[in-house]
Amino acid sequence: MTAEAAILPFPHRHLLGIEGLSPLEIGHLLDQSETYVEVNRQAEKAKSSLLGRTIVNLFFENSTRTRTSFELAAKRLEGDVINMSVATSSVKKGETLIDTAMTLNAMHPDVLVVRHPDSGAVKLLSEKVNCAVINAGDGSHEHPTQALLDALTIRRRKGRIAGLTIAICGDIVHSRVARSNIHLLTTMGARVRIVAPRTLLPTAADRFGVEVFTDMREGLDGCDIIMMLRLQTERMHGNFFPSIREYFKFFGLDYEKVALAKPDALIMHPGPMNRGVEIDSDVADDFGRSAIREQVEMGVAVRMAVLQILAANLPSTDPRNL
Ligand code: CP
Repeated sequence: MTAEAAILPFPHRHLLGIEGLSPLEIGHLLDQSETYVEVNRQAEKAKSSLLGRTIVNLFFENSTRTRTSFELAAKRLEGDVINMSVATSSVKKGETLIDTAMTLNAMHPDVLVVRHPDSGAVKLLSEKVNCAVINAGDGSHEHPTQALLDALTIRRRKGRIAGLTIAICGDIVHSRVARSNIHLLTTMGARVRIVAPRTLLPTAADRFGVEVFTDMREGLDGCDIIMMLRLQTERMHGNFFPSIREYFKFFGLDYEKVALAKPDALIMHPGPMNRGVEIDSDVADDFGRSAIREQVEMGVAVRMAVLQILAANLPSTDPRNL
């Protein structure tokens, strides 16, 4: 089956989060991403499904993986990509998020890929523009393409998602990656555990449909997937743990803790990693157990699929010209 032939209706103009997507829709996004994994491993990668479309990357927060892979994804589909540098834009002169969005909208882009430090900001922006909007991470709310690439990695390595026991460990309270993964993995039938010190758990953690653990040893016991999270010190105001040393001792992933999971348990981390803080360097680089590099590879395929699927929903004529 070719990548172009696999397109099915996707009844959403934007991708703002995983919450609310059906198992069928998530499955379709993953199936479409799968076709691009093979495309990306060939010497000739170009596909023309974004020909004539303009994609603007608008990142109000730093990024290596997400921004680069969206740019690469759009270019591999022959779209035109603009990376707007917020640091040198009129945002620095006081222009608001909405005025920035309206200004970009007046230039008729087809897709805006937006990362913003405030939860809900990307949805707000999506209500003001005519184009499709992809949430590339909003505050501690959602990071949908990260959850999709994590799910694709798991599905390829384990052959399924349903029935797996997946432990998401670390700074849950500040993590949009955790939220999107909880929505996706529970929707697809996985048994999800969240593991963190009490101070790094959301107040309503027991309402997420997951099992909650404050002891790594119990949380990792017999699990199929260990998904570690970065300590997001930039979002912390006050003290959440006594010291980095103590955090690593109780919640950092080393071989002693890995041994509590199933012998073939997969180790994941969305990046960027803090080596020696939430994960031991040797564990992170253990190519027999760690899928961290593969997650990055899957990111390009997922973003190609998301761009293609949303672009297929765009009208062929800009509604402002009618
Ligand atoms: N995982 C992730 O979102 O990484 P970046 O911040 O580098 O995009």
